[in-house]
Amino acid sequence: MNGRPWQYADLSSIAALERECFSDPWSHRMLAESFLSGKFFGSLLEEEGVVTAYGGVSVAGDGAEVQLIGVPEMYRRCGRGSKILEDLEAHARAGGARRIFLEVRVSNSPALLLYLMRGYRGLCARTRYYADGEDAIVMMKELP
Ligand SMILES: CC(C)(COP(=O)(O)OP(=O)(O)OC[C@H]1O[C@@H](n2cnc3c(N)ncnc32)[C@H](O)[C@@H]1OP(=O)(O)O)[C@@H](O)C(=O)NCCC(=O)NCCS
Repeated sequence: MNGRPWQYADLSSIAALERECFSDPWSHRMLAESFLSGKFFGSLLEEEGVVTAYGGVSVAGDGAEVQLIGVPEMYRRCGRGSKILEDLEAHARAGGARRIFLEVRVSNSPALLLYLMRGYRGLCARTRYYADGEDAIVMMKELP
C-alpha cells in the first residue's frame, strides 16, 4: 500500500469513489474547493495505479475535522481505512491540532466501529443532520 497526499489530478478518481461509497457524495467541485482552501489535507492509498482508499482533514487552530474517508467495497476490511485515518491524525497533530472531530451517520456501523477502535468517543448527536433526515453522531479524539 503506497500512501501519498492528494494531488489536484486525483480529484476525478476521488469524486468517482465518493459516488461509489456514499448516497450523498462530494462532487468534484466540492472536493476542489476544499483541496484549494489551504486548511485541507488529503491522503490516499494507491495500488498499481488505482486509488484504493482516500480521506481528508481540515485543520484550524488546535482543532481538526475529518471531512471524508472512503474505501471502495472490494478493498474493505484490510486496514486501509485505519491507515488513512492514521495519516489524517498525524497530519492534524503536526499542524498543531490537539483534538480531532468527525460526524458519522447513526446507522453506519462499519465506520462507528472503525472510529471506536481508533480511540474516538461519542460527544453528542445532531438530530436530522443529513439531507435525508438521518441523525449524526459527533465523535472526538484527543491527539496527544
Ligand atoms: C468505514 C470504512 C472507511 C472502513 O474502511 P476499512 O478499510 O474497511 O476499515 P479497516 O479495514 O481499517 O477496519 C478497521 C476496523 O474497523 C472495524 N470495521 C470496519 N468495517 C467493519 C464492518 N463492516 N463490520 C464490523 N467492523 C468493521 C473493525 O474493527 C476493523 O478491524 P478488523 O477488520 O481487524 O476487525 C469503509 O467501510 C467505507 O468506506 N465505508 C463507506 C464510506 C463511509 O461510510 N465512510 C465513513 C463516513 S463517516
